[in-house]
Amino acid sequence: MMASAPVGDDVLGDDPTVIRLEERVAELLGKEDAVYVPSGTMANQIALRVHTRPGDRVVMDAESHIRVHESGAPAALAGVTIVPLETDRGIFTPDQVVEAAPGPSPEFPPGLFDPTTLVTMENTHNEAGGTVWLLESMRAVSDVARDLGLAVHLDGARLWNATTATGIALDQYASTADTVNVCFSKGLGAPIGSALVGPRDVIDRGRWYKKMYGGGFRQAGIIAAGALYALEHNRDRLVDDHANARRFAEAAADLGGLTVDLESVQTNIVFFDVADASRFADRLRSAGVDTLSLAPTRIRAVFHLDVSDADTTRAIDILRGVAASR
Ligand SMILES: Cc1ncc(COP(=O)(O)O)c(C=O)c1O
Repeated sequence: MMASAPVGDDVLGDDPTVIRLEERVAELLGKEDAVYVPSGTMANQIALRVHTRPGDRVVMDAESHIRVHESGAPAALAGVTIVPLETDRGIFTPDQVVEAAPGPSPEFPPGLFDPTTLVTMENTHNEAGGTVWLLESMRAVSDVARDLGLAVHLDGARLWNATTATGIALDQYASTADTVNVCFSKGLGAPIGSALVGPRDVIDRGRWYKKMYGGGFRQAGIIAAGALYALEHNRDRLVDDHANARRFAEAAADLGGLTVDLESVQTNIVFFDVADASRFADRLRSAGVDTLSLAPTRIRAVFHLDVSDADTTRAIDILRGVAASR
């Protein structure tokens, strides 16, 4: 299917498979247009760029992927300052936005000049363990942001998982934001790519920055075909990933020496704490289980298309063995 995909030139905007993907994802999210880009990072950074001017401030959770894992791009590419919020598993309140938005610095007396122009939310929230925003919480933040004249961007890299967990439709979630990043390459199982979705004029400007950032990828129809396939065939099975993540998390929580915050296991991600995480992850890897050691005592396990129920059972057995032999 990918090998036989009709292709054109994405830079010239005439790759038919890319166009079909962009139309489909815009339709699913209830937005006018979408632009296909190589990565979620690029989608987020284009969003920051189109919604802000250098010197602006952007409000988001302190542990947002955009702030923590995108190589300093908000400062380097958009020239913005991030106003980090301390949150409950990635979820913040309208009051926090109000407090953050009128620049608390005496340099910017409220009402005179407030350089805050954008709020971003992340759903599901990666660093918090794949936690889910409910629609009403997002609406409340979005309403306040819009009252304050701020744009809203949703980092929905795993919005498919949020929808699977809550039953809240993609377009309902998307309605709380001006632009949304969605990724095809994570649990959904496509090899490459993300999309930035939003109003036509905003996405048109986004296409300019995609080119500027080196994201024009010529015969991209080959990989867009994989993303289209994943969209149509792999969303329904995300529920299996969530069940496997829960099973793994509950088994891990029963083991001595490991700590799991079961409340934060809401989708396909499981974080657990263990002494010497890097060594522990190495031993898991040698035994056949790939995890990521993200901090001295933290390990992340992610459940996706390539991890079956049987693989999960095997991973649990291996985890038990490694934990017992420390
Ligand atoms: C919430 C979130 N946003 C954005 C990204 C960036 O995606 P990419 O790795 O495709 O740049 C990730 C990657 O893990 C993520 O978890």
